Amino acid sequence: MEEKELYTLDDICSSLGLEKNRIRFIEREFGAFFGFPRLSPFPTLYTLKQINILKKIDQLLNRPDLSIFQIKSEFQRLCLERGKGVWVIAVTSGKGGVGKTSIAVNLAVMLAGHGVRTVLFDGDLGLANAHLFLGVNPKFSIADLITRRAGIEEILVEGPCGMKLIPGGSGLFQLAELNEPQRNRIIDEITRLGKMTDVLVIDTSAGVSRNVLRFISLADEILTVATPNIASTLDAFGLIRIAVQQKVAGNMNLIVNRVRSRAQADQVFDKVIGCANEFLGKIVERAGYVFEDSNVEKAIQARSPLVSLCPDSPAVLCLEEIVQKLLHKKKAWKGGRKTELFELFVPMEA
Ligand SMILES: Nc1ncnc2c1ncn2[C@@H]1O[C@H](COP(=O)(O)OP(=O)(O)OP(=O)(O)O)[C@@H](O)[C@H]1O
Ligand SMILES: [Mg+2]
Repeated sequence: MEEKELYTLDDICSSLGLEKNRIRFIEREFGAFFGFPRLSPFPTLYTLKQINILKKIDQLLNRPDLSIFQIKSEFQRLCLERGKGVWVIAVTSGKGGVGKTSIAVNLAVMLAGHGVRTVLFDGDLGLANAHLFLGVNPKFSIADLITRRAGIEEILVEGPCGMKLIPGGSGLFQLAELNEPQRNRIIDEITRLGKMTDVLVIDTSAGVSRNVLRFISLADEILTVATPNIASTLDAFGLIRIAVQQKVAGNMNLIVNRVRSRAQADQVFDKVIGCANEFLGKIVERAGYVFEDSNVEKAIQARSPLVSLCPDSPAVLCLEEIVQKLLHKKKAWKGGRKTELFELFVPMEA
């Protein structure tokens, strides 16, 4: 939608692809969420915020499992939760190539499908590739924030279910050398991002570089991905050990990817969780497991998130269980971060 303050009903119909009757129906049923004055039941002009609400309700109405009553209470809950700030999830691993990006991308799309305003940040700054998994074509990356070439709204790329991607870019390292006004401008942009986001999912690179450690130290939930491969299991434990040494505050969780059976996942859980408990005194929670599924590679080749291409595939069903756990945790989250969102993007020391 082009940048202007107010939009007509025709603007909305053409940009959202909705019929007028559908919009009128949503207004009648959900008017309370739009803040329309009582005396004018059908408005003629809409703000961008009202359009976003319309869009979100339309998405929820498309879900066959939700009644109108459930959508209303879900929406009310989302509105109440909005005041809490951004919940940050980092998807990470010791060993590379274990499925982080595939998991992060699909989790972000699925969370957005549940009505959560989700932003995926491609934190694999050198080899950013989440846009390929999503099938979107970014014009800018996070690095363009620094060079003033783009504001945060221009950088965000919309993906399925209304989730948004912040494409990664290696220029982010320059952030450490910013002067005061540059840094303040970026903080303002990130603060704006925070106002439009409920959950930030960060796809990190593998291993324990300074950037990865910064991302996981600022996350509320750290999802470490391992496969049943012994090297990957050992590296997952190694990553957890370093995170514990760094005294990370977030909850540590394990996802076992590419398993052939539940029993195979249990073996990895027992090994990593047992060792973390015994040798590090750290509780690592089971976030869930994902089956080995040839559809994962098919989706990557098709440049489409797995959940959009094969919503009933075994891997998606596993991911849905992980999403349900995350939604549960998010509900219990009290909000109020110790760290500010911009610290993720702006290193505090060089
Ligand atoms: N559940 C799965 N079943 C089958 N193949 C999978 C599964 N998950 C991931 N893969 C395969 O593993 C490969 C690597 O996946 P992905 O790029 O998501 O890993 P990564 O951890 O992000 O890698 P990197 O460390 O390089 O960033 C992909 O080619 C994908 O096909
Ligand atoms: Mg990756």
